[in-house]
Amino acid sequence: MVHKKIGCAIIGYGGMGNWHANKITREMSEYAELIGVYDTNPARNQIAKEKGIHFYLDEFELLADENVELVVIATPNDVHKEIAIRALEAGKNVICEKPVTMCSHDLEEIIAIANKTGLLFTVHQNRRWDEDYLTMKKIFDDNTLSNVYRIESRVQGSRGIPGDWRNQVEHGGGMVYDWGIHLLDQALMMTGTRKIKTVYAELTNVTNENCDDGFRTTLIFDDGLSFYVEVTTSNFIELPRWYMLGENGTAVLNNWSCNGKIVMVSDWENKDAVPIVAGAGITKTMAPRDKDSIKEYPLPVQKANWGEYYKNVFAYLRGEEDIIVTHDEQRRLIKLVEAIFASGYSGRVVEFENGL
Ligand SMILES: NC(=O)c1ccc[n+]([C@@H]2O[C@H](COP(=O)([O-])OP(=O)(O)OC[C@H]3O[C@@H](n4cnc5c(N)ncnc54)[C@H](O)[C@@H]3O)[C@@H](O)[C@H]2O)c1
Repeated sequence: MVHKKIGCAIIGYGGMGNWHANKITREMSEYAELIGVYDTNPARNQIAKEKGIHFYLDEFELLADENVELVVIATPNDVHKEIAIRALEAGKNVICEKPVTMCSHDLEEIIAIANKTGLLFTVHQNRRWDEDYLTMKKIFDDNTLSNVYRIESRVQGSRGIPGDWRNQVEHGGGMVYDWGIHLLDQALMMTGTRKIKTVYAELTNVTNENCDDGFRTTLIFDDGLSFYVEVTTSNFIELPRWYMLGENGTAVLNNWSCNGKIVMVSDWENKDAVPIVAGAGITKTMAPRDKDSIKEYPLPVQKANWGEYYKNVFAYLRGEEDIIVTHDEQRRLIKLVEAIFASGYSGRVVEFENGL
């Protein structure tokens, strides 16, 4: 079917702005057209021009262009709110990069204007299409491991935070807002309607004084599920990307290529463990299982296409689909981020959604 192409413009033509430009022009050309970009840094506008992309002299000119129906905001985090509000007030639909805002109060201001204008305001939670996440979600949804009671989701690097706005708190730097927002969104999507009872978080400052260069958080859900999320930037040996424990099995997914395995108990009754020597003692409890009582399976690796994100936005704008990334999901996510900071700064367990 031939669609009317939706005119798009990008504010903030840095790393991610360039990524959006490439995606719109190369992969979404059936649905959309890139009308132009604007960046406060003239050098970035010059780069756009060299690539044959129109650039605007300022944000006002971009927002005044009637051909622009959808604005993508890909600036540093601290200015998302003010640009989103100006774009909505200028009559534009908006995709905002993550994290949508620094606090829930700012988010509510944007949502109020989006609701008043009736325009789309959504957030680029692209990692809902990560294959590693979807693979673990499949195992969880199918209850493959029986009554999952612990999930661990980690992203670990060894380079600290990049030396740009990401390490400046006034620009919304730090790893909670950077990678954290993706992993926390995945945790909320995976666990669905469950409520989080408590949040405990540690913020780290190994390489950076200004803002967190990592964090570790444990979310305890109303059914007892413990979901651990970690983003750290001083790890020279990485732990697996995902680790999931159920009553009858364990799944590990090591990396973005989705290498890993599932190990299931096939004979719970087989308790004839032979004590082994372990360090300076012996143990029966920790004796490894023999091959007769466990079975190994491959991961049910899921395939995904990130382009579904943009396709959904365009279908929504044509009135054909509901939007996938909703206001309420963003509200909950930013409130969770606030709880993580509250716990991290106080060193205390914070109650969350209790009794809701
Ligand atoms: N969804 C993802 O996978 C993903 C990945 C990386 C970054 N991001 C997000 O994208 C956003 C941009 O990150 P980045 O890595 O591209 O940063 P970047 O520094 O590479 O680019 C940001 C650009 O915005 C420009 N800018 C700053 N203030 C501006 C303003 N008021 N108006 C117009 N332009 C302005 C800067 O000059 C710069 O060119 C951030 O919110 C970040 O969290 C998302």
